Amino acid sequence: MTTETRAAEDREFYEAQQRSEELRAEIRHHDYRYHVLDSPEISDAEYDALVRELRSLEGRFPELQTPDSPTQRVGGQPQAAFEQVVHQVPLLSLANAFSGDELRAWHRRTLALAERSDFQMVAEPKIDGLAVALVYEDGALVQAATRGNGLIGEDITQNMRTLKTVPLSVAKDAPPRFEVRGEVYMSRAGFEKLNEERAEQGLPLFANPRNSAAGSLRQLDARITASRPLDIWIYQLGWVEGAVPPGSHWDALQMLNGLGFRLNPNIKRFDDLNDVVKHTEFWAEERDRLDYEIDGMVVKVDDLGLQRQLGAVGREPRWAIAFKFPPTQATTLLRDIAVNVGRTGSLNPFAVLEPVRVGGVTVRMATLHNEDDIHRKDIRIGDTVVVQRAGEVIPQVVAPVASKRTGKEQVFKMPAQCPVCGGDVARPPGEAMSYCTNKACPAQMQRWIEHFAGVMEIDGLGEQRVRTFVEQGLITDPADIYFITREQLVALERMGEKSADNLLASIEASRKRPLARLISALGVRHVGWEVAELLADHFGSLDALQAASAEEIAEIPGIGPKIAASVRAYFEEDRNLQIIEKLKAAGVRTTAERRAGREGPLSGKTFVLTGGLQALSRDQAERRIKNLGGSVSSSVSKKTSYVVVGESPGSKLDRARELGIEVLDEDTFTALVEEVER
Ligand code: IVH
Repeated sequence: MTTETRAAEDREFYEAQQRSEELRAEIRHHDYRYHVLDSPEISDAEYDALVRELRSLEGRFPELQTPDSPTQRVGGQPQAAFEQVVHQVPLLSLANAFSGDELRAWHRRTLALAERSDFQMVAEPKIDGLAVALVYEDGALVQAATRGNGLIGEDITQNMRTLKTVPLSVAKDAPPRFEVRGEVYMSRAGFEKLNEERAEQGLPLFANPRNSAAGSLRQLDARITASRPLDIWIYQLGWVEGAVPPGSHWDALQMLNGLGFRLNPNIKRFDDLNDVVKHTEFWAEERDRLDYEIDGMVVKVDDLGLQRQLGAVGREPRWAIAFKFPPTQATTLLRDIAVNVGRTGSLNPFAVLEPVRVGGVTVRMATLHNEDDIHRKDIRIGDTVVVQRAGEVIPQVVAPVASKRTGKEQVFKMPAQCPVCGGDVARPPGEAMSYCTNKACPAQMQRWIEHFAGVMEIDGLGEQRVRTFVEQGLITDPADIYFITREQLVALERMGEKSADNLLASIEASRKRPLARLISALGVRHVGWEVAELLADHFGSLDALQAASAEEIAEIPGIGPKIAASVRAYFEEDRNLQIIEKLKAAGVRTTAERRAGREGPLSGKTFVLTGGLQALSRDQAERRIKNLGGSVSSSVSKKTSYVVVGESPGSKLDRARELGIEVLDEDTFTALVEEVER
């Protein structure tokens, strides 16, 4: 090799080195902007190009590949086993408080021990994931370990490097050696998506985001970890060497945040315990709002000197306490899968469970959605299952506990006959639900009447009463409700005169409900509240809807052919037409109110639209006017308030000019509407 070529190669290497350093710094910056600050400055494509360039440089000059290079986030070769790591300072656990009173008792004890009249506290979400400890030396991440038993953990450095929110290196002015602690977790959305993918591949499902985070992190092949949506919240500065540590936990967190670590936004500092209790109770109620699971709040003494002074009892520090929320999951035996018949005849499978306490209530039943979902999750009768309850929603069966299987479990099959009337069951192509095909199925009618009474807001006509009325022969369909007499009611057992009168009054009031309510109450398959509003808005009367073809219905924005066909099919059925006739005879309102009925800033104003609008469809424009209380007419008269003119308007514009009515172009109209919408 000549001196010249060597010089050229050296230069090339030198340039590659410079460039790779630049790229690393740049990528790190964008990682931080994207993952920690949630505010990227460049597009994904631009970002990918930077990583590609760096990877290609490192490919050409492997010496340039540093352990903290962003390219190392993808994970190296699989390991044979995890190495053990002895934690320099043990990772403690936490004592629990299960009520505000227990939290107050902790506060009193701590005040007494500290011999103080007050101290500041930091309250933070207790993330339901797994604890990790990250060691940085001279600004670079050199070791990551699981908590393990608190003294010895597992070396998961390669795996942790794959998390985009873990800085691989930090500013040079950081302490020379320090350890940060935090919780690795998976978001609910990430967990759902991962489980969907696993179900498609026939893999066992994770029971909850925590298990799924743990399973994803403890992978010998870090490439698997890299493919999982893991994230971290930092919650503690473990130890510091070679620098003066901050004086308070709060300051330590701020310092870490400044170094690029991801700090949970719901961490707060307090002076007063009452505020801490309020804060923890707030999150006990609102935990479902977060896209990640928390199982409590951790309350910590802020002053690190005081923390040291207080010390620990065994593994539990005296300076912190976990306020635990009631658990939202439990395991129990799935005794049976039963089927309930809904108002549209849908067969809804549900779980019959060995009663179990979840989130503070006893759960005996849980929804199972549909047949496919049961098979997708591989839930079998006789399985031990994970049951989950979140907020007010109906409990769900999340997954079976496969390790508890005995082999005696049975695979669920949708019955071929309706469990109530014995009618044939059919599953329309492309639908997830099976239906009882017997139109006269008493279960369907019962559900329909309940639904009707609910939607029409007939107070005092719930499931139990509907059942009694049907059994006693007072009613056979929803329209019969309007023909019930006072004599019939008072003749019933357990029905006093007062409750009979109350019921009759609420039946009376329901005759004048808005058209959308009536349409929704009719129980048309696929027609819920929103679709009913669209139909009522568009057609203005039940007669007009009944006369419409499937094509006309499908033209309404927001309504597809499936719904349109279902509406049409409904009006093809004699039984339904008879019921509608009976409803009209009973004086139930079947037309929309004159003006959409709403009161609003445009009440009393009539608009006429002419010509093609650019930004809005005709329907959108009409809906906006009506939402604000205005009305829309098709012809210009002296009563017209405004004529809105689009592209190539017709004779309506001339007529407006003739009558001296105010004309608005589209922009002015939009500005007016936006002005009053505010
Ligand atoms: S502080 C001594 N803060 O809870 C301090 N822990 O039961 C102990 N955890 O192993 C840790 N969120 O995995 C702390 N904001 C938080 C936390 C938190 C979740 C976990 C952590 C720890 C366990 C203790």
